[in-house]
Amino acid sequence: MLLSIFETILKQSETTLAALKNIKTMKLYPEAKRIFRELDNLGVKENEAIDVKSLFAFDQLHYHGIQSVQACINALNLKRGDKLLEIGSGWGGPSRYIAHMVGANVEALELQKDYHNVGCSLTERCGLADRVAHVCTDFLTYENKSNHFNNIVSWLALYHIPNRQKSCLRIFELLKPGGRVFIEDLTLMNRNANVNWALLKSDLFANSLISIDDYKSCFENVGFKIDVCEDMTIDWSEFTRNRYSNFLERKNEFINLHGKELFDQMEYFYMKIVEYFNMKAIGGLRLICSK
Ligand SMILES: C[S@@+](CC[C@H](N)C(=O)[O-])C[C@H]1O[C@@H](n2cnc3c(N)ncnc32)[C@H](O)[C@@H]1O
Repeated sequence: MLLSIFETILKQSETTLAALKNIKTMKLYPEAKRIFRELDNLGVKENEAIDVKSLFAFDQLHYHGIQSVQACINALNLKRGDKLLEIGSGWGGPSRYIAHMVGANVEALELQKDYHNVGCSLTERCGLADRVAHVCTDFLTYENKSNHFNNIVSWLALYHIPNRQKSCLRIFELLKPGGRVFIEDLTLMNRNANVNWALLKSDLFANSLISIDDYKSCFENVGFKIDVCEDMTIDWSEFTRNRYSNFLERKNEFINLHGKELFDQMEYFYMKIVEYFNMKAIGGLRLICSK
């Protein structure tokens, strides 16, 4: 009995270790501390207090930044005191925005230790540590009470996590009855698209890329009622094209601040995302559902 518990724990930590190693194949994630240089460039020195509003332009690792997070606040009607979980919180940008704007209590759950550490430091320096609790773990092994959260939110993270059925079930269990979910995520568009799928999988660290229809079904199958399912593909395709050209325009400034190696890695990532949207390999969705 004891041995099998030990084996299970060992297996889980091996899976998490493998995930941690592989996620750095995605070239958006190489250097979590780069955000400190962006702040330094604005005159905000490391360890100094930060006005949370000055972070909003840098700390959102998804499409349309705080505009999308505000859409989430409006759609879920988030309120002061709500208990909320963000899955895959990166630097903690969306969690801090929600905590600041509505006064909700947010748990910001992140797999990568370096992003988690930077997130903790930024939250502390913004004076939001009483409302945003950072947790560094793999969502698939995350433990908490059932029926705990009023809302669960996630931006561009679930497609990273293998075993979609298990993550949907965990989301359902963790949510209080009547609770709601807001998700934006990448989806599979056309499995016959002419791309190198093995490369796409490692470029995007895509471990559960599924179609919009399958996405909806997974949530319905565990008991959710779908309130909104919006196809974001055209919008995100244009967004990522603009992001890539803006990034290229900023080339010299970026290299001066972060160096050529980081520029090359991020340029590759931004370019590949544009390609995968153009080739109709990937799409995107916004999903809002209720328990
Ligand atoms: C594209 S980033 C988005 C970060 C944040 N949601 C935002 O929009 O600013 C996705 C995040 O999900 C995290 N992630 C991936 N797999 C995860 C897992 N199994 N458990 C927790 N977080 C995970 C990644 O490390 C990454 O920081």
